[in-house]
Amino acid sequence: MNTPLLNITDLCVSYHGRSVLEHVSFDVSQGETLGIIGRSGAGKSTIALALTGLLDANVATVTGRIEFQGQDLLQSGEADLCRLRGSSIGMIFQDPVGSLDPAMLVEDQVVEAIQIHERIDRNEARLKARQRLAAAGITAEVLATAPYAHQLSGGMCQRVMVAVALACGPRLLIADEPTSSLDLTLQAQIVHLIKKVQAESGLAMIFISHDLALVSRIADNIAVIHKGVLVERGICDQVLNRPVHEYTRSLVAAWKHETEGSVRIASA
Ligand SMILES: Nc1ncnc2c1ncn2[C@@H]1O[C@H](COP(=O)(O)OP(=O)(O)OP(=O)(O)O)[C@@H](O)[C@H]1O
Ligand SMILES: [Mg+2]
Repeated sequence: MNTPLLNITDLCVSYHGRSVLEHVSFDVSQGETLGIIGRSGAGKSTIALALTGLLDANVATVTGRIEFQGQDLLQSGEADLCRLRGSSIGMIFQDPVGSLDPAMLVEDQVVEAIQIHERIDRNEARLKARQRLAAAGITAEVLATAPYAHQLSGGMCQRVMVAVALACGPRLLIADEPTSSLDLTLQAQIVHLIKKVQAESGLAMIFISHDLALVSRIADNIAVIHKGVLVERGICDQVLNRPVHEYTRSLVAAWKHETEGSVRIASA
């Protein structure tokens, strides 16, 4: 059997002594997409932050084991984590506009992301950045007329973030509500882009969202978080069509009810 790429065991997080994640355990294999769902405040983003070593140590207490490619991230120093972020672990967060520097050329931001993690000269990094941006749909023509992030739309900024996250060929991509600020068309384009890269590279992904329709299109497996506890994990079809836990049943029922409602409205 394949050793999982990521293995989380007994992850507990509290903020100022208040427990928000309790004994969460799951693993992710190469090429797998794990969707993490749950209502607002369930602890989904806390998992993403713990995984990337981005929890504020002044606020959060973390225990457990997060093993990535055999290395325990909770025992790793900041320098190690920094090297992993953006090289082996890519991240995309909800707010693409806020994640980019408005006053810096978009292309330079991708070049910098590459140069932090790869020992290549600036010209080589620039070439690579252009390729990554073009693959994400940000072509030289787009950048000729809108070279700064503040000149790009939200959807385009998120494409740039995808290019940054994938610039160094990570093994794991963590996407936390990556499309929730986008309209449905842009959402579909970003999902298509991520899936394409995944098919090409065997990248594993954790896709966090409260949008069950979206998760059903992208995830192989789903983990359900309820008040900091992982209450159910299984293959996508099983969790969404034959949920076992009462909480998952209520989430799925609410989603199906909403979908039926919108179909009724659409056909009215
Ligand atoms: N920096 C912080 N300090 C104190 N409490 C926090 C902090 N960040 C998050 N929390 C609390 O931890 C809990 C889990 O938050 P988290 O952001 O992980 O939820 P989430 O599932 O991502 O929610 P959403 O769907 O709204 O993004 C919430 O009760 C939240 O209020
Ligand atoms: Mg969140």
